[in-house]
Amino acid sequence: MSKGAVTILAIESSCDETSASICVDGKVLSNTVATQAVHEQYGGVVPELASRAHLQNIVPVVQQALTKADCAMQDIDAVAFTQAPGLIGALLVGAQFAKSLALSLDRPLIAVHHMQAHVLANLLVEPAPSFPFLCLTVSGGHTQIVLARSPLDMEVIGETIDDAAGEAFDKSAKLLGLPYPGGPLIDRYAKLGNPEAFRFAEPQIPELNFSFSGLKTSVLYFLQAQTAKDPAFVQNNLNDLCASIQSTIIRILIKKLKKAVVQTGVTQVCMAGGVSANSGLRNALQEAGKKHGWKTYIPPFEYCTDNAGMIAITAYHKYLAGQFEDLSVGPTARAGWG
Ligand code: KG4
Ligand code: ZN
Repeated sequence: MSKGAVTILAIESSCDETSASICVDGKVLSNTVATQAVHEQYGGVVPELASRAHLQNIVPVVQQALTKADCAMQDIDAVAFTQAPGLIGALLVGAQFAKSLALSLDRPLIAVHHMQAHVLANLLVEPAPSFPFLCLTVSGGHTQIVLARSPLDMEVIGETIDDAAGEAFDKSAKLLGLPYPGGPLIDRYAKLGNPEAFRFAEPQIPELNFSFSGLKTSVLYFLQAQTAKDPAFVQNNLNDLCASIQSTIIRILIKKLKKAVVQTGVTQVCMAGGVSANSGLRNALQEAGKKHGWKTYIPPFEYCTDNAGMIAITAYHKYLAGQFEDLSVGPTARAGWG
């Protein structure tokens, strides 16, 4: 490692992925993720099981990240962790580990906001957007439009007032009898269906905010009415149902992004979060970019879902700005930001 380089070890443990990353001067050398399969049988993340799995995974995940990056503990200049938001027990595991390591190595400690990190994941690949840019962050827990003016100056200019986009996918999938998480399955079946086959409610929400709870109700009532007439309705129309639900979610998202571009005059548009893996949404962003003259960016999948690489790049900018914490810092389940 060259002299003068800034080496950061970052840890992410906000939900059900235990992840560690080594990043040198803003370049990720390793990004190790242990996914917790234990939740599948429960149809959602069980917080207590997540905390326990983080405890089991954190030491091997950090060791793998160090080995893969060919980095020794003593090479680390700062230790970073996800402070908020997330499951409190899960966050505590990463926070305590990072604090203990920072204390024992006598290195500075950096606390990172998970949603800011999702946005900065866009800086991890070339070509990266320059500032300012807009980012649509769509995950199982969040749906936000963020105006990023610089790495540490961001503003949430729109967000969901109820369900997140990922929840809209997963809850609709559940109504179709698909297992959790249903988002990727809707994506798969939608490729074979007609997006115009059925129409579902699109909410009229002011400003740049979103609402997805009405879509779930609209799908529920529609399916109840149809299956009363034909009990095999879902089975016989699965592809068309998935395509129609997916296209409704995409229309809601892209409509607000367009509005955000007009309102801010910013034409570099990025995406982040697990839902940005959706092939229909990726295509829709690229098409909107071509049509309206935007430059669009979507990180590769490993940086879209929860990962420590995005925590590391955010921590790198906080390191340069001298934003460190003392050992009294703790995690918070909910934290406003932007
Ligand atoms: O960011 P993420 O991995 O975890 C957090 O919620 O923080 O996002 C998970 C969400 C789930 O709701 C999942 O169904 C959704 O991302 N998702 C997808 C796809 N892949 C993951 N939704 C639609 N299409 C996909 N291909
Ligand atoms: Zn996330």
